[in-house]
Amino acid sequence: MSAEDQKRQAAMRAVEMVEPGMRLGLGTGSTASQFVALLGERVKAGLSVICVATSTATEQLAEARGITLSTLDETPELDMTFDGADEIDGELRMIKGGGGALLREKIVAMASDRVIIMADESKMVENLGRFKLPVEVVQFGLRATLDMVEALASDCGCTGEIALRKTADRQPFVTDNGNYILECDFGSIGDPDELDEAFRFIPGVVESGLFLDICDVAIIATKDGVKLFEARRDLDEDVD
Ligand code: 5RP
Repeated sequence: MSAEDQKRQAAMRAVEMVEPGMRLGLGTGSTASQFVALLGERVKAGLSVICVATSTATEQLAEARGITLSTLDETPELDMTFDGADEIDGELRMIKGGGGALLREKIVAMASDRVIIMADESKMVENLGRFKLPVEVVQFGLRATLDMVEALASDCGCTGEIALRKTADRQPFVTDNGNYILECDFGSIGDPDELDEAFRFIPGVVESGLFLDICDVAIIATKDGVKLFEARRDLDEDVD
């Protein structure tokens, strides 16, 4: 089964968790897109939900599928958010932001009672950091911010190339919030909590792609079936 098939399997399991009347956060990326498509089918069949999107891309997708959208200002408390991840470890700590939506994803996740992460098995890792950690930074003072990120990360034992994310035509990638993204090639992050804490001292850093203590349930599609991992309860349920 391909990674794309596994993403769909995870999204299929996730969409079963949606109940009528729920207020949902919609993530960004290819796995979240599969979820939006499946949710759209349920909406077409009569399900009533209100959703807040984490990016303009997801907003457009949801609109096209006939899903009712709201904003976090109108609907500041959400029941569940469904999103993907770039990496997820055994403690359900994650790296997110591959699609450049990490800030809105984190804001929406923090406004949700439960955060459900859907992923194919390639996203499960022993240590976070092989995926280049995205860090959203303001455009002003970019060089100074990059230097501080490098210095404080190094104090946390994280070294490696830190580069500005570029688009296909070599222009700086600009997020939906008008910011830049630094990609940190640390290889392995020994202490994600310490690194996350360090980033908070840097005024130019808006948010990092470290999502710690945020995931409530991870739905991982593997070649042996779909597995659910619940935070802090080590639940491992096979759903074939
Ligand atoms: C976007 C994200 C995505 O959830 C992450 O990049 C996973 O993407 P995909 O589902 O396409 O593998 O964090 O900012």
